[in-house]
Amino acid sequence: DKAGHKHFMSKEIAEQPTVISEAINFYLTNDGKDIALPGEGIDFKSLNRLTMVACGTAYYACMTAKYWFEQLAGMPVEVDIASEFRYRQPPVTDGTAALFVSQSGETADTLAALRYCAGKADQILSVVNVPESSIARESNLALPIHAGAEIGVASTKAFTCQLTVLLLLALKAAHMRGKLDDDALTDLLSKLRGLPATLNNAMAIEESVQGVSQSLSKVKDVLFLGRGMMYPLAHEGALKLKEISYIHAEAYASGELKHGPIALIDEKMPVVVLAPRDALFDKTISNMQEVMARGGKIILLTDQAGADEVSEDVWQTIIMPEIDPVLSPILYALPAQLLAYHTAVAKGTDVDQPRNLAKSVTVE
Ligand code: M6R
Repeated sequence: DKAGHKHFMSKEIAEQPTVISEAINFYLTNDGKDIALPGEGIDFKSLNRLTMVACGTAYYACMTAKYWFEQLAGMPVEVDIASEFRYRQPPVTDGTAALFVSQSGETADTLAALRYCAGKADQILSVVNVPESSIARESNLALPIHAGAEIGVASTKAFTCQLTVLLLLALKAAHMRGKLDDDALTDLLSKLRGLPATLNNAMAIEESVQGVSQSLSKVKDVLFLGRGMMYPLAHEGALKLKEISYIHAEAYASGELKHGPIALIDEKMPVVVLAPRDALFDKTISNMQEVMARGGKIILLTDQAGADEVSEDVWQTIIMPEIDPVLSPILYALPAQLLAYHTAVAKGTDVDQPRNLAKSVTVE
């Protein structure tokens, strides 16, 4: 049932404020001041390393979580694509928790990576949408994301719910490891509780995204740029666009631009720049100006404070609500998803069942 939407993907994008709030409520204690993990929980003090493994969109959720675990909890984190991890024979040292992220819980490479770690890692953890899945069953602790059934092949609400649960885990780790005091935790949790409402307000960008998408549907290549936590989001935006609109899209860390991809810039390849007005904003904007100086057309995703600081030569600006930088990846997933969705609709592709793709990749 598409609940009045043209596609499951659009319904699932719209559901995000509700399902994220369900995920938050599942993990918060009644007073809203702490995070209660199911079962015996996780003793983050006894761990010295986190290895996160996944495929596709779930991998980009892990990449984002690396920034949270490192910055908030001071924990060394490795992130890997399951198909590479499983055959590399990576050493799994004492004090390592291995964490597998999967919407379906049945992805063949992720499951094989989990089996490789079983008996080697101190703990096998998973973040899953299907609690009865193989990955959940073979973990010491499976953390549900509460996204509800996701039908569209392109993952949307599962991604933002994965991010939400991973952020809660990073906050729990930071608190347990003494990097975040009670007040700081309470403050961030209260901001997180406000996120579904902010995301709901952000849905107002849909009309302007639709306009931009009309133009995007006519191009052959798109580049996505981001820095810090916006870098994994740039990857997610590029993956979404490729999957459902069949437009070639690539993501780069803004700082890598000069190391090669700037050679591609011309007026035919729009460049999507993800840049909320955070500590790294000026750096990203200077990369954006390098693109503009070479005739590149910019689609800037930023907030009002960010928009006020850039010149009028930016081709298209999509204004997002202001948000604490820690929460920005969850919010900025929305314009990335909507750009892909409306571009695909403008092209007339099969949004929910894109060619050559399966919802769950259960064979290698
Ligand atoms: O079920 P999983 O989360 O393990 O699936 C992983 C990927 O196959 C999946 O995220 C894929 O990349 C999606 N089609 C992305 O939209």
